[in-house]
Amino acid sequence: MKIAIYPGTFDPITFGHIDIIGRAATLFDEVIVAISQNSEKKSLFSDAERIALISESVKKWQNVSIDQFEGLLVDYAAIQKANAIIRGLRALSDFEFEFKMALMNRALKDEITTLFLMPHAKFTHVSSSLVREVASLKGDVSSLVPNHVELAIKTKFNIE
Ligand code: COA
Repeated sequence: MKIAIYPGTFDPITFGHIDIIGRAATLFDEVIVAISQNSEKKSLFSDAERIALISESVKKWQNVSIDQFEGLLVDYAAIQKANAIIRGLRALSDFEFEFKMALMNRALKDEITTLFLMPHAKFTHVSSSLVREVASLKGDVSSLVPNHVELAIKTKFNIE
């Protein structure tokens, strides 16, 4: 069994994340989308809300599951018997942070490989914080997130 972990904050999940999940689902027997709390970020959605939003977004892939973890990613990956960590690279600006993280994770657990996938070019500019900001200012995010996510953001911000 080839198992991959796709970790992230997913606050909220976007079409860019979903693109990566779809690609990973064709490469691995099982993909676990794992929600982590990034200590430097304050989340709009709770863990339970993010799990529900991701579940709805990935239901067409039978081999994709959702989980939440605390502590080191490599320890969580080892518990799940995962061979790989998937990360998305949208632009060159992602590279430095991702490169450092991949090398740190390798230093911590050499047997778990980080694999970088590129989402479709049309999602290069998408990030969760930009989606939150645009939606909170009543901008149209329908091309960036699925309908149910757009609805959930609007509800959070009390937007009709
Ligand atoms: N499409 C759209 N947006 C994407 C994307 C894609 N394919 N891939 C990443 N992003 C965006 C996210 O929306 C997010 O945007 P935001 O900053 O505006 O919210 C940003 O890129 C990066 O977020 P994410 O991929 O969720 O990573 P992160 O930096 O929030 O979290 C973890 C990274 C969870 C993997 C990392 O913190 C971790 O491993 N934590 C566990 C503790 C640990 O092991 N630490 C040691 C690490 S070496």
